[in-house]
Amino acid sequence: MARILVLNGPNLNLLGTREPGVYGTTTLADIQAAVRKEARRLGCEVRFQQHNGEGALAEALHDAMGWADAVVFNPAAYTHTSVALRDAIAATRLPVVEVHLSNIHARAPFRHHSLTAEVAVGLVSGFGAQSYLLGLQAALAHLATRPSPHPDRGVRRRRSTVS
Ligand code: DQA
Repeated sequence: MARILVLNGPNLNLLGTREPGVYGTTTLADIQAAVRKEARRLGCEVRFQQHNGEGALAEALHDAMGWADAVVFNPAAYTHTSVALRDAIAATRLPVVEVHLSNIHARAPFRHHSLTAEVAVGLVSGFGAQSYLLGLQAALAHLATRPSPHPDRGVRRRRSTVS
């Protein structure tokens, strides 16, 4: 069974009351419940972490190397500034699907560029809480196309019948 870390960056713990006009009123706990439900449907295991600090997020990525097959990551404001998190993603070689609640390309110009997306498998942006469910689906679809780094528990691939 594939294992997915859902990692959230700064201020996302305040979802629900934080700028509801931009991010809606769904809380992080609501998002986690929805992701858990989707993970049950898709048959994967999920863990959640949220950190406000860059160092803690880098450490969460380092720790995920020993457990996760992929990461669904909303780096929040660090998306646009953090060379450290970009490097952490590259160093761990974990497949990361970057997600954003808002469409970062439809917002202020300083949000248009993502340093972290440059080393991610791909990006889902603008679908509110749904971005996380799409991100989870994308992570599993990506894993299904390549051998698991943890072959004993990865997504099983159908064996070719051609010998
Ligand atoms: C965000 C977008 C970022 O630009 C912003 O700094 C956030 C949230 C999003 O999910 O839409 O904190 O990552």
